[in-house]
Amino acid sequence: MDKCVLAYSGGLDTSVAIRWIAEKYGVEVIALAIDVGEEKDYEGIRQKALQVGAVESVVVDAKQEFFDEYLTRALAANLMYEGRYPCFTALARPLLAQHQVRVAKEKGARYLAHGCTGKGNDQVRFEVTYAALAPEMEVIAPAREWGMTRAQEIDYAAQHGIPVPVGKESPYSTDTNLWGRSIEAGAIEDPTKEAPPDAWLWTVNVEDAPEQPTYVRIEFERGVPVALDGERLPGPELVGRLNALGGANGVGRIDMLENRLVGIKSRELYEAPAATILLEAHRDLEAMCLDRETAHFKPYLELRYAELVYYGLWFTPLRKAIDAFLAETQRTVTGEVTVKLHKGRAMPVARTSPYSLYDYRLATYDKGDLFDPKDSPGFIRLWALPARIVGEVERKHA
Ligand code: ARG
Repeated sequence: MDKCVLAYSGGLDTSVAIRWIAEKYGVEVIALAIDVGEEKDYEGIRQKALQVGAVESVVVDAKQEFFDEYLTRALAANLMYEGRYPCFTALARPLLAQHQVRVAKEKGARYLAHGCTGKGNDQVRFEVTYAALAPEMEVIAPAREWGMTRAQEIDYAAQHGIPVPVGKESPYSTDTNLWGRSIEAGAIEDPTKEAPPDAWLWTVNVEDAPEQPTYVRIEFERGVPVALDGERLPGPELVGRLNALGGANGVGRIDMLENRLVGIKSRELYEAPAATILLEAHRDLEAMCLDRETAHFKPYLELRYAELVYYGLWFTPLRKAIDAFLAETQRTVTGEVTVKLHKGRAMPVARTSPYSLYDYRLATYDKGDLFDPKDSPGFIRLWALPARIVGEVERKHA
């Protein structure tokens, strides 16, 4: 019998998908769940897949890999889509799909399946990755194919002995990993109204945040955060601690209208305390360690990088080429940044680096400086030369 590897979350959609795929396609379904830092009961999820009909069920702890291969690159690129969304879902999808392809090859599977709907970005991210890594495999997207409403899905689940969520269902659709949490659907779909308070889980309201600031000192090596307040930590743990510290100070709430790849504008809520803090700190350290021309050029590539991550183009030559550029820029991004967390803000307030390009003797207005102001008039004469000539010609023709 042919096999299908399904990206499994443990939720209703992908649980129904296990049965639906097995019936509709007459295949054996292998469920694959990936732990990228959503604190869930993964053993329970593994069991549930078997209980609802998967022939095999695999869980992969990919937190360290997510940090090493994806989040460090996100930081190097100061990754923010449309200036605000730190792309955590967009980053996790290629990793998930990559593991799916690996398992599918190991098991000799013919099909790859995911539970995405036809309206979102995630279907694109999964399927571009499949296409890049395993073009010979066929795609099944049950939630795009079955045409069931939520109520019909619940009926289907009940008929097939699939556990249905009990009690009051969350009115929202959420996605979570180390780098952030997204909240969609329900009342959030009305962008003219402030989001209901129960949408937020990781962050407190600014008005409820402590009056006293919290300071955290972050150490970076080559652009990668390695320690907090002098304590070296594995990446996933460092991120986890910053999520807690930031969340307690109301840092990292994002409420935005976003342009999806499939052409829809959507209203999105995000909570990303650690990403917000680390991006602020990283940018601040770059301001100290990068020369002016590199600092001014890099954002052009950052913009492209954010688009291609968001658009699902992780496994492409352009992403790898930009990574090579970014890695070169990070060679000297080593040092410490102290960030003040207060009432929703993460503000870098002090920084040091062995590669600092800041020279007190040049910058100071006190005496004893090295900068000779007598050099300035000649420099300005040449700098102004094109403007002077254009001005003269324009006036002649006026
Ligand atoms: N709008 C964000 C993105 O496209 C978040 C999507 C969340 N995904 C989900 N399946 N709920 O990356």
